Amino acid sequence: EKVDETHRTGYHFQPPKHWINDSHPGPMYFNGLYHLFYQYNPKGSVWGNIVWAHSVSKDLINWQALEPAIEATKPFDIKGCWSGSATILPGNKPVILYTGVDKHNRQVQDYAVPTNLSDPYLRSWVKPSKGNPFIDPDRSVNASAFRDPTTAWFVNGEWHTVVGSKRDMVGVAYLYTSKDFKKWVRAKEPLHSARGTGMWECPDFYPVSPTGRRGLDTSALGKEVKHVFKVSLDLTRFDYYTIGVYDKEKEKYVPDLGSVDSWAGLRYDYGNFYASKSFFDYKKHRRVLWGWANESDGEARDKDKGWAGIQLIPRKVWLDPSGKQLLQWPIKELEMLRSPDPRKLNSKVLKHGRHVEVDGITGAQADVEVTFSFRSLDRAEPFDPKWADLPAQDVCHQKGSTVPGGLGPFGLLTVASEKLEEFTPVMFRVFKKGGKHVVLFCSDATSSSLAKGLYKPSFAGYVDVDVSKTKKISLRSLIDHSVVESFAEGGKTVITSRVYPTLATGTKARLFLFNNGTEEIEVDKLTAWNMGKPVMNVPLNKGASI
Ligand code: FRU
Repeated sequence: EKVDETHRTGYHFQPPKHWINDSHPGPMYFNGLYHLFYQYNPKGSVWGNIVWAHSVSKDLINWQALEPAIEATKPFDIKGCWSGSATILPGNKPVILYTGVDKHNRQVQDYAVPTNLSDPYLRSWVKPSKGNPFIDPDRSVNASAFRDPTTAWFVNGEWHTVVGSKRDMVGVAYLYTSKDFKKWVRAKEPLHSARGTGMWECPDFYPVSPTGRRGLDTSALGKEVKHVFKVSLDLTRFDYYTIGVYDKEKEKYVPDLGSVDSWAGLRYDYGNFYASKSFFDYKKHRRVLWGWANESDGEARDKDKGWAGIQLIPRKVWLDPSGKQLLQWPIKELEMLRSPDPRKLNSKVLKHGRHVEVDGITGAQADVEVTFSFRSLDRAEPFDPKWADLPAQDVCHQKGSTVPGGLGPFGLLTVASEKLEEFTPVMFRVFKKGGKHVVLFCSDATSSSLAKGLYKPSFAGYVDVDVSKTKKISLRSLIDHSVVESFAEGGKTVITSRVYPTLATGTKARLFLFNNGTEEIEVDKLTAWNMGKPVMNVPLNKGASI
């Protein structure tokens, strides 16, 4: 089979070919190696025949591919080995919990353990017949919507896990407990549920420290510790989280006031990012988040390309000092791919209607950090009250990058062709609302490609920052051929877009700065690096080693 390389990524996680989805099957750190398990179709580039593919890394950047860890072989998973998670049990023993689709098409929860703990790669896994499935959906559960067990945590002398589900339109995280990790019992009440949200796929539940950036083990508790609960909503295909408190006596998770469960809630990413999973990195004491981005070019194209789906760059996550949201930042290790001679700009003025090329870098495979400043907010446009109930995405779509404004739009034009027939703006627009200001952050694929039949959304989110004090805003974009991952204001708001340029490919892709607002913008500081290519899923027995 041929693989079309045009839009393949240079430094994002991809197998050499075929379909991938969720990274939810469980990343973990074990005995000096990071493991990534992910949903994979070994037979083609559309969803189906799902196995748990397995790769290992020393640094989360360079990867070697192993044989799949779990394949459909048993009556309890014969129709598919779906998402789940990894837990490291005391005595340093990893266990995988996953959803098997059984011969009656019921979703059941299974486990697998390594056959040989002294193999540093944990290449082979067994699904014992004894004890599998460890959770059978009883009559009160919807067996076709009952999946994705999350990393177990230990509290009150018992192990706990949740399984995502729904009851009519109520999203539910069923709680199961076990004393020995073998026999599991459903708790009377779910850990959490919310009306009107539909199926909860890929739940993730973990503690965060109230201060600082260090991560916590999934079982960590403590008076000040907050918890994050995340679900992937099947209906909207986005990942939402709330911040709240885990009441271990009542075995309930309660979101903080103002932290809402629904599509009005917080998102890890306001773009293409789904079925994510975090893990506690015992090596570096941080919490790392993996998310999957699917293609936006349609199934027919995916069949032609011979591949579909990427995993996004792992992000460190921690609680914002406000306690109201998380912050996310690409893991430090990514910086090893930065070229030693970055392009730098300082104090560059962007006048109204201008765009300026950032030359000397490869616009298809780069890492860009930039800080913008402005003298005044007087020209910020009024925020139309009608927009208050609209998703940020719709506001971005109305305004785009070409409708001139007051304070903004300004930012980057990424993966751009020389004459701007194609470009993906990553930009800010500041509005006045009451006595305050609202910052709209937008990654707009509308003009990303001249090709027909693509999904080209104007992804956007607001940034919770008071720019009236600082008169500055910062941006980092990871550009990689068909993906642009952008972090506003130190990771307060993150947006990922998939793009399929026809002209702005490979060495022809360019990067520009632009300002379409009447207020002058200054680029205080810009650093842009070409990004190198890591070892990406070379089989263990062949070629380069990690
Ligand atoms: C999410 C999901 C999971 C399921 C898996 C199957 O994308 O639908 O709920 O376990 O994918 O591949």
